[in-house]
Amino acid sequence: MSETLERWGSKRAFILAVTGAAVGLGNIWRFPYVAGENGGAAFLLIYVAFVLLLGLPVMMAEILIGRAGRRGPMQALGVLAADAGASRHWRWLGLFGAFTVFCILSFYSVVSGWSIEFLVASINGNFQGVSAAEIGAGFDAFLANPALLTFNHTLFLAMTMSVVAAGVAKGLERLNNLLMPLLYLLLLLLAGYATTTEGFGTALAWLFLPEFGAVTPSVVLHAMGHAFFTLAVGACALMAYGAYMPDDQSLPKAAGAVAVLDISVALLAGIAIFSVVFAQGMDPADGPGLMFVTLPIAFSQLPGGSLWLSVFFLLLLLATWTSAINLAEPMVATLQGLGLRRSRATAAVALSVWLLGLLSVFSFSFMADFRPLFGRNMFELVSSIPPDIFLPIGGLLIGVFAAWVMPRTTAMQALGTSERNFYLWQNVLRWVAIPLTCIVLLSALV
Ligand code: PFF
Ligand code: NA
Repeated sequence: MSETLERWGSKRAFILAVTGAAVGLGNIWRFPYVAGENGGAAFLLIYVAFVLLLGLPVMMAEILIGRAGRRGPMQALGVLAADAGASRHWRWLGLFGAFTVFCILSFYSVVSGWSIEFLVASINGNFQGVSAAEIGAGFDAFLANPALLTFNHTLFLAMTMSVVAAGVAKGLERLNNLLMPLLYLLLLLLAGYATTTEGFGTALAWLFLPEFGAVTPSVVLHAMGHAFFTLAVGACALMAYGAYMPDDQSLPKAAGAVAVLDISVALLAGIAIFSVVFAQGMDPADGPGLMFVTLPIAFSQLPGGSLWLSVFFLLLLLATWTSAINLAEPMVATLQGLGLRRSRATAAVALSVWLLGLLSVFSFSFMADFRPLFGRNMFELVSSIPPDIFLPIGGLLIGVFAAWVMPRTTAMQALGTSERNFYLWQNVLRWVAIPLTCIVLLSALV
């Protein structure tokens, strides 16, 4: 394999690719339901703080390693460690990242499959004029149908892996370019609609007036895990994208732009969804089904609702698609680094993710009560442990590598910014991000 990889077409293309990786289910589906289960405003505040104090500096560290190494994650870490005179074992961090995205992609694909089903149902007008109770019951019936879930999971994974097989090519760059602004616009419209519902005031209070009495170590852990998850940080997935970053781009500016976009998408989605939840007297702690029930309910009573809902699910699907491609990339890159051809590597990843995904599929029907760990079933396990525990551990190690192991000159050059900014970043990483991650992880473990 050649040591000089291809590059993103432009600075903007890099920002869009990373935004495509970041903005996905995490913002629109996971944020509202995890916030719902963890008390709302206090969770939101802690999560935003974590994005800025941990997620952002670690994101820069991760992209920086990719850019300095210009190889797949495992190889980049190995080469940079050797250059720094450190242990070659650092390369196993790349493998750990690949394992993390393996788990994440397995449930990500299943849930993204739901949006395919809902897109088709909205286009067919299946929600128009249907009562809230019936929509809720319809979703439960859908989950209880493993064949249907498997079909949509398969379809989504095929969509993802066919793009990955072709290389993360210009096609996706262009698609992102066009669709991310549209997604944003639609969310703005949705939030605008939310202001007209009776639940809007309650939703704002619930999202923005924190009650810190309810904050437990577990709430803090979830907020930290979600900060990593939503930025796509901690699994070496952005490291893979950093390897193709243009030479003359400022990394802090790019990462900062992505973080701001990512937070604002989550906020808009949260406002829209919780307004409907409260207007309908539903329970904000309703779990993974939250978005798939509230949005159809919100639109079912609106003129032209089917059209809006179709557009929304289409955009959601595209947002998850660009994230899933990013999730698959480090696995494929790792296998390629071990000598497999890209086509073979892609096929192997597709098959194993598909199989693991079946466990999530069945968790809504006949494996619902198979609870091997912590009283959680397989879907609950893969959708919580890798995001909440593996990503912070991976992020921690990535931060340690960039802040303590890499030689200053290498890191400074790869960050592509002034000396002052470099030290600011390094100090935040060394004295805030790394210790804070350790403390939260440890306090959650005990
Ligand atoms: N950031 C994505 C989201 O919010 O949906 C999920 C994700 C992508 C997590 C890539 C981790 C990752 F490596
Ligand atoms: Na996100």
